[in-house]
Amino acid sequence: MAVLLLTSATGAPGVTTTALGLALTWPRHVLLADCDRDPAQAVQAGYLRGLEHGGRGLVSLAHLHRDGAALGPEVWRQTLPLTESSEPERRFLPGFTSAGSSRLFEHVWGAVGDALAGLDARGIDVVVDAGRIGVNGLPMGLLAAADAVVLCVRSTLRSLAAAQIHLATLGEQVRALPTTPPVALAVVGPGRPYSAAEISAQFAMPCWLEPAWDPRAAEVLSDGADEPRRFHEAGFMSRIRAEAKGLSERMARGRAHTAAVAGVAS
Ligand SMILES: Nc1ncnc2c1ncn2[C@@H]1O[C@H](COP(=O)(O)OP(=O)(O)O)[C@@H](O)[C@H]1O
Ligand SMILES: [Mg+2]
Repeated sequence: MAVLLLTSATGAPGVTTTALGLALTWPRHVLLADCDRDPAQAVQAGYLRGLEHGGRGLVSLAHLHRDGAALGPEVWRQTLPLTESSEPERRFLPGFTSAGSSRLFEHVWGAVGDALAGLDARGIDVVVDAGRIGVNGLPMGLLAAADAVVLCVRSTLRSLAAAQIHLATLGEQVRALPTTPPVALAVVGPGRPYSAAEISAQFAMPCWLEPAWDPRAAEVLSDGADEPRRFHEAGFMSRIRAEAKGLSERMARGRAHTAAVAGVAS
């Protein structure tokens, strides 16, 4: 399985923008899952420019779960295409549509996490936009499905101070899982003012992603702004494509290692 979960501490460092950038450049079939408990419909209203979701998404999965359906076979049916091309397939699972719906979801996260993780058997990786960690932490059922967790921060002191606080919660949560996934940083806009190397040293954590500071490119992803010329080939997207490739290879190595350890243990 290859589930990459992206989250943040406070503010809006760029989780959705980074997750979408990865999903649009990921080298394998990929699903971007909007699991932000603070509903915003950011991808539908932004990059997808108001595309009608036709009732598909997390809320439908919750109804199916309530009716006793297994979510594994259903999850792909609840998705929308992110791109016209299907080589590789890039799809999107819409998130919550009303303010209270995530509260009704506590008992559904485990089944959703399992269904997302199960897509690996069909050669599909998953990028989860988990939104903010929040005061009570991330849903454990969702976190349990993650092969790796990436905390998105900006490179400012304000963002880093908040990250320090919420990392304590996240750290406790991942250590409580049967298999602890690696936790790394994404520094959105490194060098404004601190470099990714400085931040990584300060937090004693690796930095796996350094999305460039590029408000114009970011606005295409976050708000559906018009794409500048050669948007997908140059600058911001070309850098994130290289990072997506590195990350996907890193996760494949991690899976191979876990499988080998499991093989030795059994
Ligand atoms: N790499 C970046 N460079 C410049 N601006 C960015 C970058 N990533 C995100 N942003 C901007 O930051 C704002 C918040 O982004 P968003 O992805 O919605 O954050 P979050 O999901 O963490 O709340 C948006 O206006 C977006 O365009
Ligand atoms: Mg977001």
